[in-house]
Amino acid sequence: MLKIRNGRLEDCVDLLTVYMGTHWEKGLTTVEEVKDLHRGSNFFRWGWLVAEIDNRVVGEIIFRTERNPRTGKLGLIRDIGVDVRYQKQSVGKALTRAAEEILREKEVSRIIADSPPEAYNFWMKINYFSRGELVRIQCNPKDVPSRRSRIVKTCEVNDLQSMPRSMRFSNISHPGLLVDTASSIIDGKKKGSILRFTTDDECIGFGAIISNNGSGSEFIADVTPSGEDYADLIIAKTAKFASKWKSKNVASRIPKDQLSRFMEVTDWSLETDRQIPVTRLM
Ligand SMILES: CC(C)(COP(=O)(O)OP(=O)(O)OC[C@H]1O[C@@H](n2cnc3c(N)ncnc32)[C@H](O)[C@@H]1OP(=O)(O)O)[C@@H](O)C(=O)NCCC(=O)NCCS
Repeated sequence: MLKIRNGRLEDCVDLLTVYMGTHWEKGLTTVEEVKDLHRGSNFFRWGWLVAEIDNRVVGEIIFRTERNPRTGKLGLIRDIGVDVRYQKQSVGKALTRAAEEILREKEVSRIIADSPPEAYNFWMKINYFSRGELVRIQCNPKDVPSRRSRIVKTCEVNDLQSMPRSMRFSNISHPGLLVDTASSIIDGKKKGSILRFTTDDECIGFGAIISNNGSGSEFIADVTPSGEDYADLIIAKTAKFASKWKSKNVASRIPKDQLSRFMEVTDWSLETDRQIPVTRLM
């Protein structure tokens, strides 16, 4: 019989099999690696449910909430996976509906997930619809202009033990990416920097940038509603940080409807991202 319950670290023994079948591209081979995905300074804020059949964990869903000044509180599904031997038996749907119930109690206005093309029909079947596109932008850090401002102060924050509340939002960035990138830096999983931008001591935005072994850097920049007029400066200052690491390129994934803000900074090369954002209104 199918049972949906909260996930526990000991479930990672069974989840290794789930990951090997559904997320083979992650290359996980040990239980410890699976456990690592379920802990960290920010993970305790995530909801984590597993699906159990005959005392065996056969699937999981991971989700959380985020503030969004434009659409209100959002629910984010970061991942869902069902053991290949148990797929197409309504386990994925049961996990999603259970997560939705918890997110509904937290009064989210909508739920968002990023679907690979292969899982797109699953989301359509359970009443999600595609919304917008993600674009991957990239350029040489040399082509990002150096920007200065007397009004906007930039400070690199090195001493974070956990994610500050002020950073748990998405306004112009794709939901979830700022917190995910910053978490990987705070937890020491990636080498990178977190930048806080202020005017008159008011926080107007954040940037997070990681270095992928010198070959390239990935960044996410976001602004609060009062920082929107400075978006180009915050994007430029965050992306330019890649020059310090002598990265050959600097890239980001952004919502297509925000592209014009990024094009004000420099002439990025563009590519449609593989992930398809899907959403369900609550
Ligand atoms: C996507 C995934 C979680 C679906 O799990 P599942 O347990 O097979 O899904 P369900 O059985 O609950 O499917 C619900 C409906 O969607 C359909 N469906 C599921 N996967 C489908 C697919 N790939 N293509 C078309 N339809 C699909 C089912 O047939 C079912 O339809 P029905 O109601 O008419 O019977 C699973 O395929 C998986 O783990 N994939 C790999 C990881 C992944 O891509 N995760 C998504 C990250 S966002």
